[in-house]
Amino acid sequence: MSPTRKLPVAILGATGAVGQRFVQLLADHPWFEIAVLTGSDRSIGKPYGEVARWILNDPIPDAIAEMVVQPTDEVADVPIAFSALPTENAQESEPQWAAGGVVVCSNASSFRMDPLVPLLIPEVNPEHIALIEHQQRQRNWRGAIVTNPNCATITLVMALKPLHDAYGVRHFFTTTLQAISGAGYPGVASLDILDNIVPNIGNGGEEAKIETEPLKLLGTFADGAIQPAEIGISAQVTRVPVIDGHTATVAVELAAKASPGEAIATLSEFRAPPVVRGLPSAPARPIVVRAEADRPQPRRDRDLYGGMGTTVGRVRPCNLLDLRFVVLSHNTIRGAAGGAVLNAELLVAEGVVG
Ligand SMILES: NC(=O)c1ccc[n+]([C@@H]2O[C@H](COP(=O)([O-])OP(=O)(O)OC[C@H]3O[C@@H](n4cnc5c(N)ncnc54)[C@H](OP(=O)(O)O)[C@@H]3O)[C@@H](O)[C@H]2O)c1
Repeated sequence: MSPTRKLPVAILGATGAVGQRFVQLLADHPWFEIAVLTGSDRSIGKPYGEVARWILNDPIPDAIAEMVVQPTDEVADVPIAFSALPTENAQESEPQWAAGGVVVCSNASSFRMDPLVPLLIPEVNPEHIALIEHQQRQRNWRGAIVTNPNCATITLVMALKPLHDAYGVRHFFTTTLQAISGAGYPGVASLDILDNIVPNIGNGGEEAKIETEPLKLLGTFADGAIQPAEIGISAQVTRVPVIDGHTATVAVELAAKASPGEAIATLSEFRAPPVVRGLPSAPARPIVVRAEADRPQPRRDRDLYGGMGTTVGRVRPCNLLDLRFVVLSHNTIRGAAGGAVLNAELLVAEGVVG
C-alpha cells in the first residue's frame, strides 16, 4: 500500500554525517517530504545550508538549504521522524517524539536491544514490526520507536539470514574492516587513520553490538516477544582508511553442511518478502555474489543499487569451520539512513503509519 499523498517527515540530527544522507535520500522521495530538520544549540534558528558541514558530493538541495533548523526537544506534527541523533540525545528525545504520536525510525543504538522495540531489516525480519502494538500499549505511546542495526551488523546479517534459514548458523567468527564515515564527522583524526589500521572501535562497544544484535534480528517473534537466535559469535573490529563501505570477513559453522556452490546458490536466490520487494528503496536483489577472486571491494561495490545492495564474494571452504566468505555494504546508506528509510517504507506499506 503506497500513500495517497506525500507524508511530511522530520530528520532529527539532520546536520551530521547520517543526517545528510537522510536529506539526500529524502529530498526527492516518492512517499516522503522533508518538513522539519533539527540540530543542537549550535544550529537551532539558522538556515540548514549555513550550519550543515556538508560532506556529500551532490550539493544541498536549494529548498532544504533555506530551511531553518529546529530544536530537537519540540515534537513536530509529523507522522514519521528519522533520527540521526547521538546515542545520549536519542535516549532522551526519541521517547518524547514517540509519546507525542510520531513513529521514530532511528539509527541510534539507544533502544536497539529494548525488548519492546523492533530491530528491523525489512528483508530479514519484517514480522518483528508486530512488536509495535505491544510497545505502544506498554509505554502508552501513540507513536513508536523502530531501530535499524549497527552498520557492521547489517552487513553481516544480510548474508547470514539466507544461510541461517537454509542450513542453521551455529557459530561464526568475523573481522570487520570499517570505513571512516562510520565515526561521523569529523570522525577519526587523519593522523590516526592515514597509513594505518585501528583495531578498536568504541572501546569494545562495537564488538558487543555485533555479538548481540544478530541474535535479535535472526530471532523469532512469538507471544509479544523476540526469542533470540542461538548462535555463538566472536567479532574483532578494525577501522580502516576507506571513506565509505564496511567489509567483513566471516568464517561460519553450519548445523546442516553446505558446499560453497550450494551456499552461493542460496545467497544468490535470496529474495525479500513480497511486501518489501515493491518498496521505493528496496534493492532489486538483496545480495549479489561475485565470482571474481578479488571482490567485494569498497570503492567498486559499495554503490550497488544506490548503496542499498550487499555484495558477497570469496565463498569457499573453511579449514576450521564450514565456510568462509567476505561481505560488504555501504555503511551510511544501507547501514544507516537508507536502512531507516526502507524501514519507514515498510511501516507505511503495512499500514502502521500513514
Ligand atoms: N555514521 C554511520 O555510518 C552510522 C551508522 C549507523 C548508525 N549511526 C548512528 O547515527 C547517529 C548519528 O551519527 P553521525 O555519524 O551522523 O553523527 P554526527 O556526524 O556526529 O552528527 C550528529 C548529529 O546530532 C546532532 N546533535 C548533536 N548534539 C545534539 C544535541 N544535544 N541535541 C540535538 N542534536 C544534537 C548534531 O547537530 P549539530 O550539527 O547541530 O550539532 C548532528 O546533526 C549516531 O547515534 C550513530 O551512532 C551512524
